[in-house]
Amino acid sequence: MFARRIAVVGTGYVGLTTGACLASLGHHVICADVDEEKIRRLRDGTVDILEPGLSDLVAEGLAAGRLSFTVGAAVAVAQHTAGVEVVFLCVPTPMGVGGVADLRAVEAVLDEVRDALPAGCVIVNKSTVPVGTAIRTAELLGRPDVAVTSNPEFLREGTAVRDFLNPDRIVVGSSAQDAAERVAALYSKLGAPTVLTDSASAELVKYAANGFLAMKLSYVNAVAELCERLGADILDVTEGMSYDRRIGREFLDPGPGWGGSCLPKDTQALLQVADAADFEFRLMRASIDTNTRQRQRMVDKIRLAITGSRTGSLNRTRVALLGLTFKAGTNDLRDSPALMIAALLRQAGAELVGYDPAIPASTSHPDLVGIELAADVYAALSEVDAAVVLTEWPEFRTLDWSRIAGLMRAPSVIDTRNLLDADVMARAGLTWTGVGRRQSADNASC
Ligand code: UDX
Repeated sequence: MFARRIAVVGTGYVGLTTGACLASLGHHVICADVDEEKIRRLRDGTVDILEPGLSDLVAEGLAAGRLSFTVGAAVAVAQHTAGVEVVFLCVPTPMGVGGVADLRAVEAVLDEVRDALPAGCVIVNKSTVPVGTAIRTAELLGRPDVAVTSNPEFLREGTAVRDFLNPDRIVVGSSAQDAAERVAALYSKLGAPTVLTDSASAELVKYAANGFLAMKLSYVNAVAELCERLGADILDVTEGMSYDRRIGREFLDPGPGWGGSCLPKDTQALLQVADAADFEFRLMRASIDTNTRQRQRMVDKIRLAITGSRTGSLNRTRVALLGLTFKAGTNDLRDSPALMIAALLRQAGAELVGYDPAIPASTSHPDLVGIELAADVYAALSEVDAAVVLTEWPEFRTLDWSRIAGLMRAPSVIDTRNLLDADVMARAGLTWTGVGRRQSADNASC
C-alpha cells in the first residue's frame, strides 16, 4: 500500500475518525476545521467527542507525525508541500427546509480549495449527501482535472473507530474509474469487500442502508406492540426471528423509537430523493410515522403507569428520566428519542428530572430546557412518581433498586429499552413495564 497525502476537511465525529484512522493505516493526514479553538485542542491531543479509541489514535498519529491539525481547508491542502492527493469532505450536511440536505458547508469548502488543488487529486464526499451531489460537486468545482468520488461512511457513534477499521464493506462511486480505485486502495489494508460503482449508486447505498435499518426498527417496534396486545413476548419473538440468517440478530431491539444524527435525517432525505424522482416511497413514510407513534406510545405507557388510565392527567407529577442521549455510549443528544418523549411529557404537565452518565448536571443545551439535571442517579429518583429508562446505559442495571424503591413516591418503572430484569424489579418491590414484554400484556390498551 502506498502512503497517500490526505486532507480531511471537518473534524466532527466522521472527519476526526476518518483522519485518525487513515493516519493509523499509514497515510499522511492533515485535518482542517473552521473552529480555531477545536483545532488548538486537537493539536494538544484533546478530543471532545466521546468515541472509544479515538483519543488514543489521535495521540498516536500526532506522535508519529502522520496526523496534524490546521485551521482552514485551503491551508490543509497547501500544507502538503509535495501536493495533496486526496481531499475528504466531512463537513455537516444538516437537514434543511423540507428535509432537503443543506449543502452550504460543502460549497464553502469547494470555494476555498478550488484554486489550491493540484491537478490529478481526488475529492471524496464522505458526508451523507443527496443523490447527485458528486456530479453537482464536480460542476461547482469546475476543475475537470480533479475527480469527485462518493465514499459514504457507515460509522455508528460509540463504535466509529471499530467500524472504520473493521468495515463490513467499502463503497466508492465515481464516473472516473481510476479515481474510485485510488480511493478504494486507501483502505486496502482492511481487506473489506469493496463495491466500485457510479456516484449516484454509491450515494444511494448510504440512504438505502439507513432507511432499511430504520424500517427494521419500526417493524420491530410494531411487532412489540402486537406482542403486548396478544400476550406474546418480544424477546422470544425476536430471538426466534434472529436465527434466520436472512434477518440476523442486530437491530432487533425494540425501544422508545430510533433517533440520533443519522437515521432521522437520512430517512427524511430518502423521502425527498424519492419525491424529486416522482416516486411515492410509502414504506419509508410508514416507517417514519411508526417511529413518531412509538414515542407517543411510550408516553401513554408512562401515563397509564402513573395514573392508572391512558387519559389521566400528569399535572403535578414528577418523572425521572434515566438516560437522555439517543443511545448508550455517546454524549450526543441530537434527535434523541429521550428528549422527544421528555417534550411530550412536559407538554402533558409532568415535572421532569433527568440523569445521564454522559451528560454532566451543569450542561446547558436548548433541548434540555425544562429538565432539571441531577448529578446523582439516586438524587434524580427521589420523590418521583415514576422512573423512565430511555437510554440503554448498562450501569442502570446494577443500581440498588431496593434502595430506589424506598426513595420514589410511587414504585413505577417504565423501561423503554427492556434493559432491566423483571425479577430484580419485582424483588425490589417495583412495578416494571417494558416494551412488548409478556408481563405488560395487561397494558394492552397502550
Ligand atoms: C447509524 C447507522 O447505524 C450507521 O451505519 C450510520 O453511518 C449512521 O447512523 P448511529 O446513528 O450512530 O448509526 O446509531 P445506531 O447504533 O445505528 O442507532 C440508531 C438508533 O436506533 C438509536 O436511537 C438506537 O438507540 C436505536 N436502536 C438501534 C434501537 O432502538 N434498537 C436497536 O436494536 C438498534
